[in-house]
Amino acid sequence: MSIKQKSLDLRERMKSALSGGGSKAIEKQKAVGKLTARERIVAILDPKSFHEYDLFVEHAAKDFDMDKKYLAGDGVITGTGTLGSHPVCIYAQDFTVAGGSLGYMHAKKITKIMDHAMKMKVPIIGINDSGGARIQEGVNSLAGYGEIFFRNTQASGVIPQISVILGPCAGGAVYSPALTDFVFVVDKISKMFITGPEVIKTVLGEEISMEALGGAYVHAAKTGNAHFYAESEQECFGQIKQLCTYIPWNNTKKPDRFPKKPPRTRIYKLDEIMPTDPKEPYDVRNVVKAICDNSEFFEIQEHFAKNIVIGFTRIDGETIGIVGNQPAFLAGVLDVDSSDKAARFIRYCDAFNIPLLTLVDLPGYLPGVDQEHAGVIRHGAKILYAYSEATVPKLTVIMRKAYGGGYIAMCSHHLRADFVFAWPMAEIAVMGPEGAANIIFRNEIKKAEDPEKVRLQKVEEYKQKFANPYVAAAYGYVDAVIEPSETRKMIVHALEISSSKDVQTPKKKHGVPPF
Ligand code: HXC
Repeated sequence: MSIKQKSLDLRERMKSALSGGGSKAIEKQKAVGKLTARERIVAILDPKSFHEYDLFVEHAAKDFDMDKKYLAGDGVITGTGTLGSHPVCIYAQDFTVAGGSLGYMHAKKITKIMDHAMKMKVPIIGINDSGGARIQEGVNSLAGYGEIFFRNTQASGVIPQISVILGPCAGGAVYSPALTDFVFVVDKISKMFITGPEVIKTVLGEEISMEALGGAYVHAAKTGNAHFYAESEQECFGQIKQLCTYIPWNNTKKPDRFPKKPPRTRIYKLDEIMPTDPKEPYDVRNVVKAICDNSEFFEIQEHFAKNIVIGFTRIDGETIGIVGNQPAFLAGVLDVDSSDKAARFIRYCDAFNIPLLTLVDLPGYLPGVDQEHAGVIRHGAKILYAYSEATVPKLTVIMRKAYGGGYIAMCSHHLRADFVFAWPMAEIAVMGPEGAANIIFRNEIKKAEDPEKVRLQKVEEYKQKFANPYVAAAYGYVDAVIEPSETRKMIVHALEISSSKDVQTPKKKHGVPPF
């Protein structure tokens, strides 16, 4: 063959491999509103930056007539490219080829690109759209999953790992996304479950649709498995791009700095955001917007455990991780889900050199049999562990209530916050004035001629004495009591001072957090 003929031969081979599962399967994919695997990669990455590898990989299965089947690229596309001009590794399962099912060589392609990502210390993005373990390949498929899970764990805290669920992700396959840092889902397209509706019906006799069992919103709002929810694939890709502007490319780097911008204080005014009545709720996200650059807050897990708000923002151009109690939902209490949500985010920020800003306003942990039996002790401990363990700069602003265990848990000095500021209306105490007065003055109130009058007097007495920031400030547990309007200035300075923070932790293999 001449060189020209060899080139033509290459082109023919490429054409066949690039055709995926063929036009019929592609039509079926499009009919349900899904893009093809290659279109997805191209839409996420910077234009013309995608470089595909292992296009000619083929499966080696023999059983069940598999030796007679050609599966283009073995149902997965892998390669490298750039996102926001930074290098990334990426793979996308191709549902048009044997339902994107994972066989031995399919898994090999994924683990090879994951190994590249680890070697080059760049993020890995995985697009999941698969019927799960390739049934014809038996234990080799299971081995493939095991190899992926192992790498997910090794890569955890070293490189960012992003999972995008754009189709079914069933059975054990769900555990790769679950081991990664951020999971993106899209309405009506993403479906995640360990056992599907058919199995549930057979084993338990319960009937449920795939959407109600493991649809996108279920994972965004109920299970907390998803971090970002979108109405369309395009919206989802926009979210991925935005996320990548906030995070560093590996754990030895800091996120990119952006030009400093003041908050849009004409719209977000702290004086107007904070209600005069201390019992009235407000949206903590507006507080973030009143102090951060250009009032831009990128919220994570927006629909799950709404009593705590987490996400990224920038202050003076630097990425900051926000953890804030949300008084507008369940008064901002800590419970099982909000503790899980915050703790994992704190550990992410700590692993990737992102300073933490904690905004405090909570009455404490949520009381109740449900919570106790759901393990609020174990789950609540995660937040204590995560803050105590974190060595990135930790800044705390106590806005209003900081009662009991909640005060300690929300990055108090005792868990090694670097700076704790309190607003003048902060109330830092063992419990709220009502509860406290009812307990410590119980006998006096009971014996009084007018118990209600005495009770109110005692509540007021307690409020005057303890429901303020000055008792904590007198012990040095609060570094400065500040006007709300000074908050941004104090944070900017605290971040500057903390930029070369260096903390030595005890030598150990690893801790044993209350997982
Ligand atoms: C081999 C598979 C496959 C699989 C789908 N296909 N899943 N082939 N192994 N796991 C093939 C189909 O045979 C079909 O091939 C093509 O992909 C498209 O599938 P359809 O069923 O036509 O698509 P759709 O109607 O959209 O349904 C999608 C689906 C369904 C809901 C995902 O295919 C399905 O239920 N698949 C099986 C899911 C499953 O039970 N997986 C194993 C989970 S256990 P043709 O040739 O007809 O086009 C698991 C264990 C992992 O994953 C444990 C790891 C620790």
